[in-house]
Amino acid sequence: MVRKLIAGNWKMNGLKADLETIRQVSAHVNSGETAPETLLCVPATLLSAAAETARGTALAVGGQTCSKLEKGAFTGDISAPMLAEAGATYVIVGHSERRTGHGETDAEVAGQAAAALKSGLTPIICVGETLAEREAGATLRIIESQLRGSLEGLETAGSFVIAYEPLWAIGTGKVATTGQIAEVHGFIRAFLAGRYGAPGNAVRILYGGSLNPSNAPEILPVPNVDGGLIGGASLKAADFLSIYETARALQV
Ligand code: PGA
Repeated sequence: MVRKLIAGNWKMNGLKADLETIRQVSAHVNSGETAPETLLCVPATLLSAAAETARGTALAVGGQTCSKLEKGAFTGDISAPMLAEAGATYVIVGHSERRTGHGETDAEVAGQAAAALKSGLTPIICVGETLAEREAGATLRIIESQLRGSLEGLETAGSFVIAYEPLWAIGTGKVATTGQIAEVHGFIRAFLAGRYGAPGNAVRILYGGSLNPSNAPEILPVPNVDGGLIGGASLKAADFLSIYETARALQV
């Protein structure tokens, strides 16, 4: 069985006082094959302190995006080596809030994923359809084209994670049905197996979009759901840990 990954995305939330959440989560989570892996992707300003707080525990910390370039005159951008040096082991790339708010294309996302891998970070590559695309019956076509574009140049499986996040479910309280999730995750699995062969079956595919302690028991057991990418509910230790416990019960 693939080891599940319970990942939080704090987005633009978190000041030093919130390191207390890191402390509470890291004090609770376990390492070992029967426990899900846990990760909190915090703002870049908190990375070093979060990594320090979580040091020696099973909690990993990660960044929320990175440049495809290593360094240079790119005001405000942050490179993968910078994240790695600050203590990140993962980085989210291609989140829909970056794709829509910052015009990031599939090609850009593929470059970011490659840069992450080069710095020893595991990229979590996000894909997802808008409501209009779903209503037009275009969901699988959109997901396939995002996968093709965002995985361009990534020749081996095993070094990255995919997150399926329907845009209409992010931060809205609307959750995809288990049938919709099963369909898209099954489609992504078949795509990965077709492209990478057997190692494609071991790539973790996370669901994201209004995942919370109440719906996690329904969503996490869906076939090919190997964990979650959690926004709002990752900001409170109790909520994040409740989702972690749900995943842990499924792992054994
Ligand atoms: P949400 O965010 O859980 O608040 O919907 C998920 C995400 O955007 O990663």
